[in-house]
Amino acid sequence: MKIAVVGAGYVGLVTSTCFASLGNSVTCVDIDEKKIAALKKGKMPIYEPGLEELVRQNLKKKNLSFTTNLKTAVHQSDVIFIAVGTPPKPNGEADLSFVENVARTIAREMTSYKLIVEKSTVPVQTGSWIRDTVMRYCKKNVAFDVASNPEFLREGTAVKDFMNPDRVVLGVDSKRAEKLLTELYKPLKATLVFTDIKSAEIIKHASNSFLAMKISFINAISRICELAKADVEQVATGMGLDRRIGRNFLDAGLGFGGFCFPKDLAAFIRISEKLGYDFELLKAVEKINEDQKKYFVKKIEHALWNVNSKTIAILGLAFKPNTDDMRFAPSLDIIADLQAMGAKIRAYDPHASANAKKTLTKVTFCKDAYEACKGSDCVVILTEWDEFKEINLVKVKKLLAQPVVIDGRNIYDPEEMQKLGFRYFSIGRPTKEKR
Ligand code: UDX
Repeated sequence: MKIAVVGAGYVGLVTSTCFASLGNSVTCVDIDEKKIAALKKGKMPIYEPGLEELVRQNLKKKNLSFTTNLKTAVHQSDVIFIAVGTPPKPNGEADLSFVENVARTIAREMTSYKLIVEKSTVPVQTGSWIRDTVMRYCKKNVAFDVASNPEFLREGTAVKDFMNPDRVVLGVDSKRAEKLLTELYKPLKATLVFTDIKSAEIIKHASNSFLAMKISFINAISRICELAKADVEQVATGMGLDRRIGRNFLDAGLGFGGFCFPKDLAAFIRISEKLGYDFELLKAVEKINEDQKKYFVKKIEHALWNVNSKTIAILGLAFKPNTDDMRFAPSLDIIADLQAMGAKIRAYDPHASANAKKTLTKVTFCKDAYEACKGSDCVVILTEWDEFKEINLVKVKKLLAQPVVIDGRNIYDPEEMQKLGFRYFSIGRPTKEKR
C-alpha cells in the first residue's frame, strides 16, 4: 500500500519504519528540516533499540522515504496516518493545532480517495473534528474516510511492540476503511479489534490511565508496606498471580514519567471534565505519583541526615531504561529538589546524558557509574538500566565516601546489600538498619 505518515516523532518514525518493513511504500513527513535531512542519511533523532538498522534497511530497499513536503506525500498516498505531536497546554488539555493543520492540508491537496487515520493520542471526538475540517477545506467532492488506530508501543521496545501487539485497535465508520486496515495489518497476524471511532479514542486514554493507576496503586501499597514492615515485591507477586490482576505494571518505584502517562492522564482528566465528569480517581493517580517523587527525596534526606553540601551520585536519568528520553523523567524533579537542598550532583546515564544536559544545570556528568560514585556520599538509583544491575558493588563501595545506596527501582537484594556492608534503602521493602 502507499502510505504517508505525518510526524517523525517516536510514534511516527516507528510506525513508518515498521509499515515499510511489512512491504508497503511509506513516506514519512515532518516539518523539521534538520531531522528529515538526518533521517535521509539513516541517522536517528532518538535512541530506540533496533530502529536505526530497520530504517537503513528500508531506505536501501526504497520502501521508506523522508520528506518535508506534505502536499506531495498526500498526492502519492492512499492511507495517511496522522502522528504529529499533541503536547499538553498549561491546563493539561491536549493541544490539537498540529492535527488540525495536517487535516487542513490533506483536505486542500487530496484529489482521490484517502483514508485518514489518527495515530497520535487524541481526546475522544477528535475524529469528528478531523472529518468536519476535511469536509470544510476540501475543494472538490473527494471521497475520504477517517479512522482511529491508537498506538500502544513502549519506548525501548517500540519495534517489538509494533510487530507483536497484544491487539490492534481500529475505530472505523465505513466498510471501505475496515477493509483497507484489515489488509494493512494482515502480515502481523494480530488480533484486530474493530470499534467505532470514539470508542477507539477512549480505549487509548483508558488503557494508559489504567496502567498509570496500577503503578500508583502499587506505589501506595509500597508506602503501607514500609509502615507495616512488609515487602511490596512479595505483595505484588501474590496479587499478580491472580489472572484478573496480572503482575505487569506492579513494580513499585519512584513514580511514572515519560511523554505518555503524565500527559495522557492530564488530558483524559480535562476531556472528562469538559464532557461533564469529574474523574477523581485519576486525579488521585496523579497525586500519588507526585507524592512518590517527594517521598523518595525524603528517603534520601533520611539516609544522609543533612543533604546540604553532600555529593550525590545519580545512576540513571532517563524515565525508563533503553531510551534517551528525558521528557517528564522523575530524575528532573528529584535532582531539582536535591539541588535546592544544597546537594552536589554527579550523574551518569548510559544514553540520556546528552538530552539531560539540555535541561539540567550544575550537574557533573560522568563517563560511567564508577566515576559518578567516586567520593560521593551516597548513590541513588533512578533508572533500572541492566548495567546498574550488573555493576561491581564491591568496587562501588570502595569508591564511595560512605557506603549508602538509595534504590528507587528495587534492583538489588536487601540482604545481599547488607552482607556487602551497605546501608541500603529501597521502595516498600523492609530495611534492617544497625543503630
Ligand atoms: C506507555 C505505554 O505503556 C504505551 O502503551 C503507550 O503507547 C505509551 O506510554 P512508555 O511511556 O514508553 O509507554 O513506558 P512504560 O514502559 O509504559 O513506562 C512508563 C513509566 O511507568 C516509566 O516511568 C516506568 O518506569 C514506570 N513504571 C512502569 C513503573 O514505575 N512501574 C511499572 O510497573 C511499570
